[in-house]
Amino acid sequence: MTSLLPAVITGATGAIGTQISLRLARRGYPLWLACRSEQKAQSVIHSCLEAGAPEVRFLPLDLADEASVRAAAETLRNAGSQLSGLINNAGIMQRYWQTDAKGRELTMLVNYWHTRLFTELLLSLIADGGAVVSTTSLTRFWPCKDCENLYVDERHFSQLGTYGRSKKVLTCWMSQLAASPEGQRLRINCADPGIVSTGMITMHRWYDPLADLLFRPLIRSPRLGSDPALRAWSAPTSGSTYCRHLTHTL
Ligand SMILES: NC(=O)c1ccc[n+]([C@@H]2O[C@H](COP(=O)([O-])OP(=O)(O)OC[C@H]3O[C@@H](n4cnc5c(N)ncnc54)[C@H](OP(=O)(O)O)[C@@H]3O)[C@@H](O)[C@H]2O)c1
Repeated sequence: MTSLLPAVITGATGAIGTQISLRLARRGYPLWLACRSEQKAQSVIHSCLEAGAPEVRFLPLDLADEASVRAAAETLRNAGSQLSGLINNAGIMQRYWQTDAKGRELTMLVNYWHTRLFTELLLSLIADGGAVVSTTSLTRFWPCKDCENLYVDERHFSQLGTYGRSKKVLTCWMSQLAASPEGQRLRINCADPGIVSTGMITMHRWYDPLADLLFRPLIRSPRLGSDPALRAWSAPTSGSTYCRHLTHTL
């Protein structure tokens, strides 16, 4: 049997990320779990090894910090192996306005700017025919003024609106990448998990307990929420957004 090249998954400690990691582990992929917390990653590493991954390594990655993104890419480069692909699963939805030292809003920074940078740094490490999957969201259709502007100012910040904007611009960029020569060499696609019962949908508002009671039982489990990423991972070509059953052009 030929051995598979390693796959990189960001946010593998999250609800959907853990499921994606386990499912790739069952398929026999060696894994790099690119996460903020090694302590949190330990149980996922253990479960992935039990599930059948031949090797699982922790890759320190804080997508809010450019130096960390560059260091993580450098670690992968120095590891010397090509990759079978990258799943950009990590994401945040900031409740409040917050910026980095350069004044870039945090949700945009993590979900778009540094996810894009990490992907760009890794592209040349991915073997021909490999996969790049980025996680988008239904909120990319959320109406927003001045949507193409990549710099969100405090006046235009809102929890859901800025999150939707970050996913919209990420999806647009993935569409450009899919149409570039890399889209011929690799399989470049998005995954839309739908609405999934994870920490991400907690809005930190008064109605959270009500939503937990009435809404959460009706939405997808993290296991089902990982289906689109696995579909996108196995996609034959570039340029689509994979939902659980449907597929749209990017
Ligand atoms: N849940 C939904 O309904 C839904 C719908 C559409 C799209 N999505 C997308 O699906 C993806 C997974 O979300 P989820 O629902 O599974 O949420 P989750 O459980 O909160 O997972 C988010 C993951 O992102 C990681 N992360 C956050 N900030 C990071 C940073 N600065 N650097 C590196 N990693 C960071 C988290 O790390 P820690 O473990 O260290 O916090 C965690 O592993 C996200 O991209 C999200 O936008 C979710």
